[in-house]
Amino acid sequence: MRAVFLNGPSLQDLQKVELADPAPPGRGQVLVRMRAASLNFIDLAVAYGQYPGVGYPLIPIADGAGEIVAVGDDVTGLKIGDRVAVHPKALWTAGRGTMENTSAMRGATLPGALREFAVLDAASIVCLAGHLSFEQGAALPIAATTAWNALTCAAAGPGSTVVLLGTGGVSIFALQLAKARGARVIITSSSDAKLEQARALGADETINYATSPDWDEKVIQLTGGRGADLVLETVGSATFPRSIAATRHGGVVFTIGFITGTSTQIDLMPIIVNMLHLQGNNTGSVEDLAKTMAAIDAAHIEPVLADIFPLDELAAAFGKLSSGPVGKIAINIDW
Ligand SMILES: NC(=O)c1ccc[n+]([C@@H]2O[C@H](COP(=O)([O-])OP(=O)(O)OC[C@H]3O[C@@H](n4cnc5c(N)ncnc54)[C@H](OP(=O)(O)O)[C@@H]3O)[C@@H](O)[C@H]2O)c1
Repeated sequence: MRAVFLNGPSLQDLQKVELADPAPPGRGQVLVRMRAASLNFIDLAVAYGQYPGVGYPLIPIADGAGEIVAVGDDVTGLKIGDRVAVHPKALWTAGRGTMENTSAMRGATLPGALREFAVLDAASIVCLAGHLSFEQGAALPIAATTAWNALTCAAAGPGSTVVLLGTGGVSIFALQLAKARGARVIITSSSDAKLEQARALGADETINYATSPDWDEKVIQLTGGRGADLVLETVGSATFPRSIAATRHGGVVFTIGFITGTSTQIDLMPIIVNMLHLQGNNTGSVEDLAKTMAAIDAAHIEPVLADIFPLDELAAAFGKLSSGPVGKIAINIDW
């Protein structure tokens, strides 16, 4: 079968290779023909040697989707022809995350999406909603699951105000899912054009953080002095203190991102006095992806793909992710 190797920590080290065909799926496993992948920040970290614990060569890209072409013994609820999203946290099927079940990651410590066939545990995949393409389905596992977990953590619904930072993959899924849950969305961006796109997707209020660096004060104004129920912290060092300032008494700062770094100086007093909930997150379980998929199905959400690249243009796909697209970058797996 064909696959792509990342032979070292550089985009110059991507190479198409020929590998032995996989063995038939064993008990509880399925064989999936991979059809699409989607990029996340973690794939950049792996490609540049900034992700701990990986060894090269490896098969890159954490998120993928494909179709089942063979089913092993004792697999229930799945059949040949089913279209599925492949969850990158292969061992975290349900329940609480632990050190053991969250550390294994496809595209990093386990083979990723860029291969013709994959033998997978049936418990690590989720059937795609019928209206999704393979590329849209591949966009879901990390970004949409994380967005769903944030909204669920804050019980976002009618009457809630959710603040989203930037118009990247997680924020755009959070925007679509928050609107489906009936919440009000305030979103920030460095670009008025991107904010227009966010409005077209349902954003209620927009703030340009480049021209209004005091976006936290604007959030306070827009919430009548109260603050947001949830800030989805996708950015890290550059925004964390303002995210705390933008959150209401008892609200949630859902901390997931580190685009601008992981260390910052914060005043603890607002966290204490306002009784904030600081919640970290490490993607989510297969069960969380299944709940996200059900919501995307029920609300008929169309995942926003900024671009779809062929396998021969992988370096361009990574470049586009770095350029700050609105939504997700997908890769069509066609050899
Ligand atoms: N822990 C987890 O569970 C988890 C899961 C998924 C992702 N993540 C992390 O979350 C982060 C975001 O992921 P993503 O996939 O959404 O990334 P992405 O698609 O690359 O989006 C990045 C966006 O961040 C925005 N941004 C950059 N600097 C900003 C600033 N100072 N203020 C506000 N927005 C800013 C930009 O928006 P504009 O272009 O609109 O300005 C940019 O497009 C990454 O660090 C990723 O590793 C963590």
